[in-house]
Amino acid sequence: MFTRKFERRVYIAIGVFLFAVVLGGAFGAYVLWPSNLEAGYEPEQPLPYSHKVHAGTLQIDCLYCHVEAETGPSATVPSVTVCMNCHLEVQTKDAQGRLKPGIAILLSHWERKEPIVWNKVNDLADFAYFDHSRHMTAGLTCQECHGPVEKMEHVRREYGLKMSWCLDCHKQAPPAGSAAEARGDATRAPINCTACHR
Ligand code: HEC
Ligand code: HEC
Ligand code: HEC
Ligand code: HEC
Ligand code: HEC
Repeated sequence: MFTRKFERRVYIAIGVFLFAVVLGGAFGAYVLWPSNLEAGYEPEQPLPYSHKVHAGTLQIDCLYCHVEAETGPSATVPSVTVCMNCHLEVQTKDAQGRLKPGIAILLSHWERKEPIVWNKVNDLADFAYFDHSRHMTAGLTCQECHGPVEKMEHVRREYGLKMSWCLDCHKQAPPAGSAAEARGDATRAPINCTACHR
């Protein structure tokens, strides 16, 4: 049989091992924790594009740039060509005759025919299904899910994209006059698992 001293060493070794597993697990969860669950996320972008200027001051329609929001699953982000519809002309210079930094970056992409790779602000887990057009036909506004984008210099994530966020809205009673009410549904939108996990 083992001596008592040896036994104690084994117990200590097991204890240290378990402690390391727990700590490692917690650290792993912390590192791998999906950032898509946090509200307020505001990634750096390759050029200082302002929604406050374009959608606010200039009042350009959201759909002018996010063309598929009403017709497809993804709202899409505009190509450089869409920007150049205006910025071939609009190239305001400062008092020293220099282009604004953002415009200079835009023009260099245009000349090199290189797309601008914007960083995603909202990125839903791939195992959940989401479709913009379904929500737009139901009469929702962009702001209900994205906040007052037209007042934002840089877009930030208004809501964490948690399942509970989707469900809090879906399980509301159908608004008067909605398609869901006409169908006699108990909730505003489906809450069965397969609606979003297909
Ligand atoms: C002139 C073009 C233009 C207009 C108009 C515009 N946007 Fe955008 N939008 C962009 C570009 C470019 C990006 C990517 C860069 C960024 O995130 O700032 C973007 C990004 C976004 C994002 C974040 C996308 C992501 O990665 O999750 C949202 C949300 C958004 N726009 C909503 C709106 C809403 C709502 C309106 C109307 C109030 C609007 N936009 C008007 C060009 C436009
Ligand atoms: C019901 C909530 C909801 C509404 C309404 C909504 N969005 Fe979104 N939007 C989302 C979610 C969720 C994502 C993340 C989708 C993903 O990662 O697959 C997203 C992503 C985006 C993106 C990033 C590109 C993409 O499609 O993944 C843009 C741009 C955007 N939305 C713009 C808009 C605009 C413009 C409107 C109004 C015309 C709008 N959204 C209405 C929830 C919404
Ligand atoms: C419908 C016309 C139009 C479209 C489309 C458009 N812009 Fe603009 N943009 C303007 C106007 C007008 C200004 C303001 C001019 C100024 O103050 O210099 C401006 C200003 C800017 C500025 C300078 C902001 C500042 O004050 O520093 C940048 C950068 C810019 N736009 C980038 C873009 C990008 C990137 C796109 C495409 C995603 C785009 N624009 C699409 C009209 C447009
Ligand atoms: C602010 C309210 C709201 C939020 C937030 C919202 N939805 Fe919806 N959703 C609706 C409404 C309203 C409908 C349309 C119901 C109808 O067609 O009558 C809908 C419909 C859908 C449908 C279509 C179901 C079907 O097949 O008929 C899917 C899928 C869906 N939502 C997924 C999501 C996901 C995933 C999220 C979260 C990332 C989300 N929704 C967030 C209001 C919302
Ligand atoms: C309205 C859309 C919607 C419905 C309905 C829905 N889910 Fe989800 N679910 C989501 C979204 C969005 C996520 C992603 C959140 C994330 O990244 O963790 C998710 C994540 C999950 C996860 C991963 C763990 C977690 O909580 O993040 C599980 C498990 C899950 N759902 C199970 C279910 C089951 C079981 C049902 C039915 C009772 C259901 N879901 C109904 C949208 C939905």
